Amino acid sequence: MSISIGIHDLSFATSEFVLPHTALADYNGTEIGKYHVGIGQESMSVPAADEDIVTMAATAAAPILARHGKDRIRTVVFATESSIDQAKSAGIYVHSLIGLPSATRVVELKQACYGATAALQFAIGLVQRDPAQQVLVIASDVSKYELDSPGEATQGASAVAMLVSVDPALVRIEDPSGLFTADVMDFWRPNYLSTALVDGQESIGAYLQAVEGTWKDYSEQGGRALEEFAAFCYHQPFTKMAYKAHRHLLNYCGYDTDKDVIAGALGQTTAYNTVIGNSYTASVYLGLAALLDQADDLTGRPLAFLSYGSGSVAEFFAGTVVAGYQDHLRTEANLEAISRRKTVDYAGYRELHEWTFPTDGGDHATPEQTTGPFRLAGISGHKRIYQTR
Ligand code: CAA
Repeated sequence: MSISIGIHDLSFATSEFVLPHTALADYNGTEIGKYHVGIGQESMSVPAADEDIVTMAATAAAPILARHGKDRIRTVVFATESSIDQAKSAGIYVHSLIGLPSATRVVELKQACYGATAALQFAIGLVQRDPAQQVLVIASDVSKYELDSPGEATQGASAVAMLVSVDPALVRIEDPSGLFTADVMDFWRPNYLSTALVDGQESIGAYLQAVEGTWKDYSEQGGRALEEFAAFCYHQPFTKMAYKAHRHLLNYCGYDTDKDVIAGALGQTTAYNTVIGNSYTASVYLGLAALLDQADDLTGRPLAFLSYGSGSVAEFFAGTVVAGYQDHLRTEANLEAISRRKTVDYAGYRELHEWTFPTDGGDHATPEQTTGPFRLAGISGHKRIYQTR
């Protein structure tokens, strides 16, 4: 008999600041409907100078340890595409900040926005092999495009931490998965750039091609029928993309693409992403958090997940919502993480966008801006220095 493995707990964090799209539209003269309706975004999370993928990840993970302890966690898998070091895993800083034991393996994974799904699947494999252990999966990213570029309106930042274990309290992850890889240059970031490069229309086409490819493989592997799913959690670079993706899937499968049917299938999955923006690896799991927090009772219902990472790798898989899941949600904390952000004006956002450490190896302190439990205090001798409050 196969054992039940999946997401036992899920917690997320986002940044200190938020920029409403109205402020961006006022600055660049864009008709606000393009942002609010055309791409489906209302605001974007903007990290403080003393925040990064590590501080957000530690903030997301700490409540999981507070609830479940740390004795069973033997692996941390940190997925990101906004890495802070070419060699050392960002997960090691988090391991230290949240006080995990030394008997832990820690690794960083990268494949654009798909990385967290690879981490989740690898975690399931580890738990299958040793059902006593729990794996901490972290997805943390800051999405950053060049100022005044089309991608700018789709920036954002957040971290999702998930505890993967047997007998999960939230979602049991199922086999099979539908897989798809294609060598495309739709979105990438060379090591020497701090902002991503993207061919916008090419990237949308590549995503839709991956939707088809994963569904084809999922069906061939004997997956569920489309009608069985209560809701679809898509990777959301901007929330309108989930609508485009689902319409494409319905068309591909020969179904009607009625607007209400699509909205019904996406349910509440876009509620957090629309105000946080793109958080790359975390995006699809923010979709899950919003759905579980805000939808009517989903007990026993199968959910579909479509994880897409440019370049590209994608995976379609299913999970079933576990009875009693409502008792394990973090709805209040999730809403607080969003509402506690301070609004910055356009000039303030631009200053934060341009903030960067000098690379001279000297001592450089960051301005104290974040009020969260962890902060990036500065850099000294090319070493990042973190602080716990
Ligand atoms: N009212 C309502 N809608 C309006 C409008 C208005 N006043 N003005 C324009 N629109 C609509 C347009 O009709 C269009 O809708 P459709 O896509 O349904 O046709 C939408 O607003 C966007 O308009 P444009 O295509 O003209 O916008 P753009 O050229 O500025 O680019 C973008 C949009 C390509 C998404 C750009 O923001 C971008 O490059 N983003 C980054 C790349 C990205 O997110 N790609 C997604 C797939 S890749 C991926 O998923 C990985 C990842 O995380 C990056």
